[in-house]
Amino acid sequence: MTAVQMTCATPQTGAAAFAIESERLVLRALCPADADKVAGLANNRKIAEMTSTIPHPYGLQDAVEWISIRAAATGGLTLAVCKKAGELVGACGYDVTGAGTPEIGYWIGEPHWGHGFATEAVRAMIDHVFTSTEFETLTAGCRVTNEASRSVLDKCGFQWTGARLCRIHSLGASVPADSFRLTKSTWSALRSWGRTNLPNRVVVMERKAK
Ligand SMILES: CC(C)(COP(=O)(O)OP(=O)(O)OC[C@H]1O[C@@H](n2cnc3c(N)ncnc32)[C@H](O)[C@@H]1OP(=O)(O)O)[C@@H](O)C(=O)NCCC(=O)NCCS
Repeated sequence: MTAVQMTCATPQTGAAAFAIESERLVLRALCPADADKVAGLANNRKIAEMTSTIPHPYGLQDAVEWISIRAAATGGLTLAVCKKAGELVGACGYDVTGAGTPEIGYWIGEPHWGHGFATEAVRAMIDHVFTSTEFETLTAGCRVTNEASRSVLDKCGFQWTGARLCRIHSLGASVPADSFRLTKSTWSALRSWGRTNLPNRVVVMERKAK
């Protein structure tokens, strides 16, 4: 698993001074100057139709409002996902649901798909949640048709817990979605497996012919 270094251990409400650094990415607070870039990337039907709240089309004003709402939100955390050189490529964060459990969410702009950025960002966010907050469980959900997101969750250790209907704003409809969960103890076991350095060797046992 990607090594993640906390550059600042500020609590959720202090997001403005907060950043999480991973191998290739920096997850940092969103700011008004990001609105142009966010609007350019998020104005994509493929993103809107896989997320519950992103409208389509998605304009500059939508981005300005979203950034200001996320900055004022308490209890959750939403960060810009940026390459180390500074370019914003997406967003990742969590909201605390009615049950008091954080649910993780993320999107990456289409020009940046397929480079492992979502997996790296989600792992960094998971590390943050389980090392710097009191939460013991993280949840996630994705449309049953969202193979890419399912793969991200899989690579991050999430386990399937059931199916539900999820409202998709851009479709004006509810669609089938899968629910997932990652507990702190599973995360901790996965992290320590990563450190054990056991030989990763497959031994093929030949069966004797009868
Ligand atoms: C889902 C999303 C975040 C993935 O971003 P990404 O940076 O490309 O993700 P990663 O590169 O870390 O991993 C994607 C994995 O999905 C796989 N994948 C991509 N498209 C796929 C498809 N159609 N079918 C099966 N697997 C697919 C990739 O091969 C990769 O797995 P691998 O590393 O084992 O090869 C991005 O596609 C996105 O923003 N989609 C729209 C919004 C969204 O779905 N958000 C999540 C809501 S639950």
